[in-house]
Amino acid sequence: MSPPPLEIVILAAGKGTRMRSARPKVLHMLAGRPLIHHVLDTARALAPHAVHLVVGHDAQAVAEAVTGSGVTIVLQDPPRGTGHAVGAALANISPEAAVLVLYGDVPLVTPESLAPLVADARAGALALLTVTQDTPDGYGRILRSGGAIIGIVEDRDASPEQRAISEINTGLLAARAERLRAWISRLRATNSQGEYYLTDVVAEACADHVAILGHTPRTPEETLGINTQAELAQAERALQRRQAARLLADGVQLMDPARFDLRGSLVVGRDVVIDIGVVFEGEVVLEDEVRVGAYSILRNAYVGRATRIEPHSLIDEARVGANAVIGPFARLRPGTNVGEGSHIGNFVEIKQSEIGAGSKINHLSYVGDSTVGARVNIGAGVITCNYDGANKYRTAIGDDVFVGSDCQLVAPVTIGAGSTIGAGSTITDDVPPGGLTLSRVPQKHVPGWRRPAKKV
Ligand code: UD1
Ligand code: CA
Repeated sequence: MSPPPLEIVILAAGKGTRMRSARPKVLHMLAGRPLIHHVLDTARALAPHAVHLVVGHDAQAVAEAVTGSGVTIVLQDPPRGTGHAVGAALANISPEAAVLVLYGDVPLVTPESLAPLVADARAGALALLTVTQDTPDGYGRILRSGGAIIGIVEDRDASPEQRAISEINTGLLAARAERLRAWISRLRATNSQGEYYLTDVVAEACADHVAILGHTPRTPEETLGINTQAELAQAERALQRRQAARLLADGVQLMDPARFDLRGSLVVGRDVVIDIGVVFEGEVVLEDEVRVGAYSILRNAYVGRATRIEPHSLIDEARVGANAVIGPFARLRPGTNVGEGSHIGNFVEIKQSEIGAGSKINHLSYVGDSTVGARVNIGAGVITCNYDGANKYRTAIGDDVFVGSDCQLVAPVTIGAGSTIGAGSTITDDVPPGGLTLSRVPQKHVPGWRRPAKKV
C-alpha cells in the first residue's frame, strides 16, 4: 500500500501589523527573496502532492507573488484564527492525506526538521515542532502531563505558572486530514482574541487518545517567526551564516563569514577568495581563482577565471572574461562584456559595451553604447558622448587604437583600427585606420605677460 499523500498548508492570511509596513508580511525580503518563497522552497523539497496557500489580508498581492508556482490559493475571508485558516484549506484535501501546516512567516525551517512530523502524521499521530527557549514570551506554551503533551496555551491566555514554561509551540504541526477536520470542527473561539486557535487541536487529540509527538528542529533558529523588523534582521543574519557555511564547506575563502551577503545564487569554482562586505545579488558565477575585493557588489554577473575584482566595484548585469582586473571603484552597468585580460580601473563607468581582449581603460572614463576592439588603450578622462538629449548613438573603436587622455568621442563615430587620437581632442567625424588624429586648439605663448596687480 502506498503511503497517504502529503498535502502542505501554508498560512499567510495574517496582517503583520507589527512590521509597521504597508507591504504584506510574507512579501518582506529575506536574502533578496520574499519570505513566502523561502517557505515554498522548503515545502517543495518535501515532494508534496499539493501545496495550499491560505491568504486573507492583501490576498491579491500575496497570490500574485506566487503565480506560476503551482500552489492552490485558499481565500480565508475574514481571517478568524489559525484553526479557521487550516479548516478553510482542508476543504480541498482528501481525508486520508497527511497534512503538514507551515507558516508563511517562519522561513528558516528545513525539510530535514519537518520530515519526522510528516512520518508521524502518516502513521496517524499528531506531530508538533517545539523548541525550548530562554525567552518564551509571546509564544504558545506546550503543556505536558507525566511527559506527554496534553495541550497548548497561548501566551495571552496563560496563567503565570504556564508562562514560566520554556517549551514553546513553533506553530508547525502535522496530522491526518480527517482527524484535523474533526478537531477543527470542535474548536471554540472562547479566548482573549476571539479566534479559532489551531493550537487547541492538541487538547482535542488528547481527548481522542491520539498520540501527540513532539519534535525539535535541528537548530533553534529554524523556527524563528517573523513578526517585527528586528526578527526579520535576525533571520537575515541566520540565513546568511547558513549560506556562508555552505560556501566555506565548498572551499571558498571567505575573509569574514559574518560580513557576507548573498541575495540569490552564487556558483563558485575552486580557490575563490571573497573579501569582507561583498554583496551578491541575483545569479552570480565566479570561475576558478577569482578574487573579489572588499565592499564590491556583484548583481547577475559572470566573472571569468583568475580575474580580480578590486575593492568597491559594482558589476551589474555584466560579464568579465578571464584574467581581467576590474576596479577599484569601477562600475560595469548592464550589457557590458569585458574581454579576457582587460583592465578597467578606478572611476570608470561602462554601459552596454563590448570591450575587447587586453584593452585598458584605467582612469576616470565613461564608455557607453560602444564596441571597443582588442588591445585598445583609452586614456584618463575619455568620454563617449552617446546621448544628444533625445537619442543614443554607438561608438566603434577598432583594435589597437590609442585614445589620449581627456578626449570626447561624439557618437555616432567610428575610430579605425591602429589609429591614435591626440589628448584633449573632440572627435566628431569618423577616423581612418592608423595615423594620428587630433582636434586641438593650437597652443599660444604670450612672452612678458604680467599677472594683474591688486588695486589699492
Ligand atoms: C501562533 C501560535 C502560537 C505559536 C506562534 C509561533 C496559534 C493560535 N498560535 O501564534 O502558539 O507560538 O504562532 O510563531 O496558532 N494566520 C492565518 N489566518 C488567521 C490567523 C493567522 O493565515 O486567521 C497565519 C498568519 O499569517 C501567520 C500564522 O498564521 O503566518 C501565525 O499567525 P500569528 O497571528 O502570527 O500567530 P501567533 O500569535 O504568532
Ligand atoms: Ca507569528
